[in-house]
Amino acid sequence: MNAPDPLFKSATAAGLSHPHESARAQVAGAAHYVDDIPEIKGTLYAAPILSPVAHGRLKGVDTRAALAMPGVRDVILARDIPGDPILATFSHDEPIFAIDKVEHVGQVVGVVVAETVMQARRAARKVGLDIAELPAILSVQQAIAAESFVLPPVHVKRGDAAGALARAPHRLKGRFEVGGQEHFYLEGQVAYALPLEQNQWWVYSSTQHPGEIQHWVAHALGLENHAVRVECRRMGGGFGGKETQSGHMAVWSALAAHKLKRPVKLRMDRDDDFMVTGKRHPFAYEYEAGFDDDGLLCGLSLMLAANCGFSADLSGPVADRAVFHSDNAYFLEDVDIVSYRCKTHTQSHTAFRGFGGPQGVIAIETILGDVARQLGLDPLDVRKRNLYGIEDRNTTHYQMKVEDNILDPLLSQLEHSSDYRARRAAIADWNRASPVIKRGIALTPVKFGISFTATFFNQAGALVHVYTDGSVQVNHGGTEMGQGLNTKVAQIVADELGVPLDRVLATASDTSKVPNASATAASSGTDLNGRAAQFAARQVRERLARFVADRQGCPPDSVVFAGGQVVTPQGTQSFEQVVDEAYHARVQLWSDGFYKTPKIHYDKHTLSGRPFYYFAYGAACTEVAIDTLTGESRVLKVDILHDVGRSINPAIDLGQVEGGFVQGMGWLTTEQLVWNAKGHLSTHAPSTYKIPTTGDIPRHFKVDFWHEPNREDNVFGSKAVGEPPFMLAISCWEAIREAVASTRPDQAVAMDAPATAERVLAALNA
Ligand code: MTE
Ligand code: MOS
Repeated sequence: MNAPDPLFKSATAAGLSHPHESARAQVAGAAHYVDDIPEIKGTLYAAPILSPVAHGRLKGVDTRAALAMPGVRDVILARDIPGDPILATFSHDEPIFAIDKVEHVGQVVGVVVAETVMQARRAARKVGLDIAELPAILSVQQAIAAESFVLPPVHVKRGDAAGALARAPHRLKGRFEVGGQEHFYLEGQVAYALPLEQNQWWVYSSTQHPGEIQHWVAHALGLENHAVRVECRRMGGGFGGKETQSGHMAVWSALAAHKLKRPVKLRMDRDDDFMVTGKRHPFAYEYEAGFDDDGLLCGLSLMLAANCGFSADLSGPVADRAVFHSDNAYFLEDVDIVSYRCKTHTQSHTAFRGFGGPQGVIAIETILGDVARQLGLDPLDVRKRNLYGIEDRNTTHYQMKVEDNILDPLLSQLEHSSDYRARRAAIADWNRASPVIKRGIALTPVKFGISFTATFFNQAGALVHVYTDGSVQVNHGGTEMGQGLNTKVAQIVADELGVPLDRVLATASDTSKVPNASATAASSGTDLNGRAAQFAARQVRERLARFVADRQGCPPDSVVFAGGQVVTPQGTQSFEQVVDEAYHARVQLWSDGFYKTPKIHYDKHTLSGRPFYYFAYGAACTEVAIDTLTGESRVLKVDILHDVGRSINPAIDLGQVEGGFVQGMGWLTTEQLVWNAKGHLSTHAPSTYKIPTTGDIPRHFKVDFWHEPNREDNVFGSKAVGEPPFMLAISCWEAIREAVASTRPDQAVAMDAPATAERVLAALNA
């Protein structure tokens, strides 16, 4: 994995497993997060006041008891907002603080500001809320019946699903639900707002989208964007949960700072973070599939209902992506998909790794698994039979041609390297002989579309500064959340300038350096910002090459930058020497770079076109064991073959594949969110909400990379890696369902996800 690829210009910077740029500082506790930034004198602390009711009329707020508590300075409510009291989201449907109604347990009514964090939190509990309770909508079924939607339903059709279903030799009808997921970033939501001179602002935010924070804060304060500067050096995890949700803390702390004219920090308590912020959208499905004797689908009708919570937030594009990915790797000829975006009285659900993709993929994988079991076929055969083709059967239900299809060879390679067939036979033998412990194995693919579906987001900028000592700083519009974006961007810049990686420093995301940047999301951080940084560095290199060429009388393209040296037919100089001479000759040693993704377009009303620049592919073979007496499950063995194109940093890509898979495993096995009958989230801490730990990691966990570069012209031939591996964990879900099916004569498995011990036991006893 570590041999340099001859296609990279420098043998030392890109294409190699360099450690994460912050790894040592993070391990030593020396890396700064927002709460580590030395505080300005006079800093105050805010804590949120939460609605205890899912739906009701807010008649009054009694702040007297809270204001009388020690250290309390003020209570900030909707009436204190100088600008628009509605958050500047796309849908403009979410109040900054509840105004005259509350719409979920945990909705923020205001913040208490005090001299210490604990004083603020204790006083927030003492604020009296006079609420007249109203009936709450807590499930998507209730929402559909009441036509309670945050956005209108979307219908995508191709061919004649009803006719195809009527003609199909076999049919299968079903319904099931898939739960949401708490992001559980290790660093909770936090923001620190500093008033500067003349109503200008500096906000530190743990956010995936500093530009959006800037816009929201400016809008709430009634200012222009240029008056607000937002900075984020890194997050301790975002996973989509800091794409929009971080904006709330930033706006609340800025409003408090505005009223009190003091710096204000708001760091959420973990339980409050669970109660306040949105999660992965829970989904409910109803489907009818028609198929032939071999399990080839002919006709599919699919209803996806997303629980969006009380406001739209990113639900539109999340639900769209679920529709786009409900084919996963399979050609759906006659298909009819309807997508409901349900408004319920819960937290406003949001982006989470995969952005609705996982909720689309799991529907078709569940259907194909059930089709295979109904026919008594190996599910892998049914999956392979339904894959997209090369010559025909290659256009998606949203009219995009799948031009880079590697599904068939990729699945075959993993089928052999994991020894799937022999193990499946051995598992069947084992299950016949083992009365209590049953095993299951499943091999499932993923095909994930890369690009923001909102086409205009697919742009990025960067700045590359070369200082007179030859050291290099790169700044780009992306954010670092642990995924290694800054490491990859620094590698790309080092490669372009032909300098060792340690000469390049990536600095904090900052709206005053690169403006109007998109969220770091949709896995496209490196594709977009890496390319922008490459273009910026290229301009500096070309200027230096022209400068050297002029002096030496050689053509500029004969000047080679590599290994920290600048080599011409006339001789070799160090990069530092060339930079120093160029500076004295008044050559500009810094530049900007801009990139926009080519080829993409789509019609957001019909959801048709080419929303994605390319697809990332992968497959996983997972073996599990279940205990039929307790319902407990364990993931025993995982073999993954994943397509990262030509890797810019194999170690980081490996970490993303492993981390994405394990996070997906948690979603489908132990991470269960439970809202009680009053809409109160009962699982709001690690004591009741179980994410995977090191003990859950499969003992056999082998990850290989597909050998080909990206067929599209993406930076270095790489592919995005942040989200696609998450969906490889659907193989765990299918393997558990195989194990359950092995105990049942009819092979049928009715179960909702996550497959907790209770759910597996119930499915066994159904
Ligand atoms: N990896 C780590 N360590 N922490 C994170 O928060 N977020 C994921 C993924 N990998 C995340 C992560 C999500 S949701 C996305 S969209 C991508 O990283 C974003 O970064 P990228 O576009 O640079 O891959
Ligand atoms: Mo990732 S869900 O696109 O932040």
